[in-house]
Amino acid sequence: MTKLRIGIAGAGLIGRRHLELVQASPDCEPAAIADPAPAAADVARAAGVPLYASLDALLAARRLDGVIIATPNHLHVQDALACVRAGVPALIEKPVAHSLEEGTRLRQVADAAGATLLVGHHRAHSPLLARALEIVREGVLGTPVAVVGSAMFCKPDAYFEAAWRREPGGGPILINMIHEIGNLRSLCGEIVAVQAMASSATRHYPVEDTVAISLRFANGALGTFMLSDCAASARSWEQTSRENEVYASYPDEDCYLIAGTHGSLAVPTMRLKTYARDEDRSWLKPFQASVAGLVREDPLERQLAHFCDVIRGTAKPLVTVQDGLQNLRVTEAIAEAARTGRIVGTVDA
Ligand SMILES: NC(=O)c1ccc[n+]([C@@H]2O[C@H](COP(=O)([O-])OP(=O)(O)OC[C@H]3O[C@@H](n4cnc5c(N)ncnc54)[C@H](O)[C@@H]3O)[C@@H](O)[C@H]2O)c1
Repeated sequence: MTKLRIGIAGAGLIGRRHLELVQASPDCEPAAIADPAPAAADVARAAGVPLYASLDALLAARRLDGVIIATPNHLHVQDALACVRAGVPALIEKPVAHSLEEGTRLRQVADAAGATLLVGHHRAHSPLLARALEIVREGVLGTPVAVVGSAMFCKPDAYFEAAWRREPGGGPILINMIHEIGNLRSLCGEIVAVQAMASSATRHYPVEDTVAISLRFANGALGTFMLSDCAASARSWEQTSRENEVYASYPDEDCYLIAGTHGSLAVPTMRLKTYARDEDRSWLKPFQASVAGLVREDPLERQLAHFCDVIRGTAKPLVTVQDGLQNLRVTEAIAEAARTGRIVGTVDA
């Protein structure tokens, strides 16, 4: 089969990772890069592809099968709209938009045009998440009751040298929690309301460093989530999932526990505890314990293979613009709840 020709907008940290994956893929190949930064010239030269100063210039000059948008957040919607106008499918890095208003405009224009857009919440392609979802959907845990999650890690001091990371908006709620929201919505269903308490008592920056979050799901289940970027703890997806080798790895720890009426699943160790029969449901009785097996793969690589299937029309986008928007809406609701002390609803208006 002919390889799909992929353009990459933004050859920064994640754009270069996408480029490597496109180069290694059996389904596609890099066609061009758009990035105005001088450093992009070396990246394009090394990849042997032409470089353009903007995505508009690239789209005007080249015939592409797809574009990966890995530009800064505030450019995602304008870049995605350029792809929609050009009739080229796009994979948009998360967050789908800088604001809900902009993201809603993108959804409306894309829907009207019948455009093909996939949002880069790459954990949606994690084999761990897929296996956990399978267990939940098969009813192995019974009816969902509660989820306990954590993203407690320690960002190094150097991370905060960039001034915007010390200011509201640059902290773990908007940077990190959006990934967790994507995971939790897949596993437990829609989140309808949130409550949160934030603290900056450790780093003393204007931005939060630690947040305690309560979640209400549409199916009646409840959740709690501890988020901290100054906690000397390994209880985060990054440090437990073994899906990104830049992080120190603690495969014996979990970051989520999903509990239903008949069982519970710890993720990512995938330790499963179930009551085999209704009459066994008692804390006086032992669980049947097992570990759910799975085949590990790189979620970013799987996301690219999925994007190629989406371009070819053999798959529907696993993470739609609407999903990306809802992840953003819940994340922003957590920030609002922490700021105001109120319970904030998260259902699409
Ligand atoms: N899925 C993930 O886990 C993940 C991880 C990292 C980043 N991201 C997302 O990817 C995006 C990029 O993040 P990053 O860390 O790579 O940032 P970065 O700053 O390293 O890279 C951004 C690149 O975009 C380029 N750029 C700026 N303006 C441009 C324009 N008008 N046209 C084309 N290119 C332009 C910059 O020169 C830079 O090379 C962000 O939206 C971020 O949220 C996602």
